[in-house]
Amino acid sequence: MFILHAEHSTNASTFSVLVTASTLADIYAATTTGIGTLKGPLHGGADEAALSMINAIGDPDNTEKYIEEALEGKQRIMGFGHRVYKAYDPRAKLVRSYLEESLTKEPSDEVKRLLQIALRAEKLMIDKLGKSKGIWPNIDFFAGPLYRVLGIDNHLFTPIFVASRMSGWGAHVVEYWHNNKLVRPLEYYTGSLDLPYKPMELR
Ligand SMILES: CC(C)(COP(=O)(O)OP(=O)(O)OC[C@H]1O[C@@H](n2cnc3c(N)ncnc32)[C@H](O)[C@@H]1OP(=O)(O)O)[C@@H](O)C(=O)NCCC(=O)NCCS
Repeated sequence: MFILHAEHSTNASTFSVLVTASTLADIYAATTTGIGTLKGPLHGGADEAALSMINAIGDPDNTEKYIEEALEGKQRIMGFGHRVYKAYDPRAKLVRSYLEESLTKEPSDEVKRLLQIALRAEKLMIDKLGKSKGIWPNIDFFAGPLYRVLGIDNHLFTPIFVASRMSGWGAHVVEYWHNNKLVRPLEYYTGSLDLPYKPMELR
């Protein structure tokens, strides 16, 4: 899991690490920035969020109804989709195979239930959004249930992810500092111009 979660290309947390490093803040500050970014449920926090959803589904027979309703309500299903990969995340395939392997080793009722829900959710999501929108399972969908198999609590998911990314973040920073440039994007204002000024007391 450490290897599968290793840092790759300029994902959101790596980018934020580089922004902080570009100010010549130290490596500790840069890493802290990366941790904050990785925590978000659209990024590394997705494994915890996906497991919460699987737990909220509760009963395997509730899976399709829960997901259909969530999609109708325009909710995102955590653990699916990727900013870059528009195909089945190859890392997710491996994690899924580890989970299937664990089923052959007399798993607890909790693990069996989690996996049944995860597999039914995966099938439904692929049918509904896979080919049509390029929304496929990502590594975070199966990571949570696998960590439960290993007896690891939810609050350790992000720290495990961070540990996996740390060497990659460090390598990016060292490389970036060879030819450092302060990251400073420009913005282009596209709103209205020449708006009338309304004094504070009249607002
Ligand atoms: C990762 C993520 C932010 C990438 O988003 P993106 O490439 O910008 O995709 P978009 O926001 O352009 O979405 C494209 C369409 O797919 C839908 N979509 C994307 N991810 C979805 C998901 N997880 N569940 C349901 N619908 C999803 C969007 O609502 C959008 O639909 P629309 O065309 O009807 O408006 C997004 O897929 C997501 O929020 N996933 C869940 C969080 C997650 O698992 N993160 C870990 C990534 S490794």
